[in-house]
Amino acid sequence: MTLTDGVATSALPGDIELDDAPAAAADDGALDPKAFYEGLVAELAAARAALPDDEASFGAHKPLDTAELVEWLKFQAWYELNAAHFIGAWLAETPETEVFCALARQVHDEARHYKIVMSQLEALGETMDGWEPEPEWVAWIQEFYPAGDDTLERVAAHNITGELGAAQGMEDLLPRVPPGVQKAIGKILPDERFHIALGRTTVLRYATTADRQRRVRERVMGAFALERSGRAAYERRIEALTA
Ligand SMILES: [Fe+2]
Ligand SMILES: [Fe+2]
Repeated sequence: MTLTDGVATSALPGDIELDDAPAAAADDGALDPKAFYEGLVAELAAARAALPDDEASFGAHKPLDTAELVEWLKFQAWYELNAAHFIGAWLAETPETEVFCALARQVHDEARHYKIVMSQLEALGETMDGWEPEPEWVAWIQEFYPAGDDTLERVAAHNITGELGAAQGMEDLLPRVPPGVQKAIGKILPDERFHIALGRTTVLRYATTADRQRRVRERVMGAFALERSGRAAYERRIEALTA
């Protein structure tokens, strides 16, 4: 059982057990879905490890001053809010019952993350007033993630690339932020691991044909390219701020 501030995450409303037994691959050149998922995640991890510092993390692995921390919190609040919006919009078009229940829980989680991040901003005397996203963030988070054609394409991009990237980004930031923000990230990370597990379950269950695996790969790698540009845009914003 994972505990977050004394609250059992398994006791959250809408909590479900994910069944990650892989389905059989079609006889059309498709890989075994488990081997496909593991290969894809390994490829993504290798690509991420090879990135220049400014694309590999928020703040290029360096300590963040308060102005940089505020910029990250604002980006993160906007991202969590948008995630709750686009995942919520998918619910009416998710016929796969288990994925539907897990995505419904995820909407609740992302809304909770938004509130947690906003509390950190408020503690620093900040609001989102007048804040505007970079064009790269709009292309990545408000256009690409919501645009998948079906559950598999949506969850592939967001719950594989997006959630692995979000968890990696937060783990990378942990040693560089003040204790209050560390505690906030500690409340968010267990949920992000559940979202990653949902991506895995969905691929294992539904990426069973060569065409579906091709579409999953395209969405995973497309999201990764946009994540790189998004992080580089954060760096550009910070440079302009501190110039
Ligand atoms: Fe989140
Ligand atoms: Fe998430």
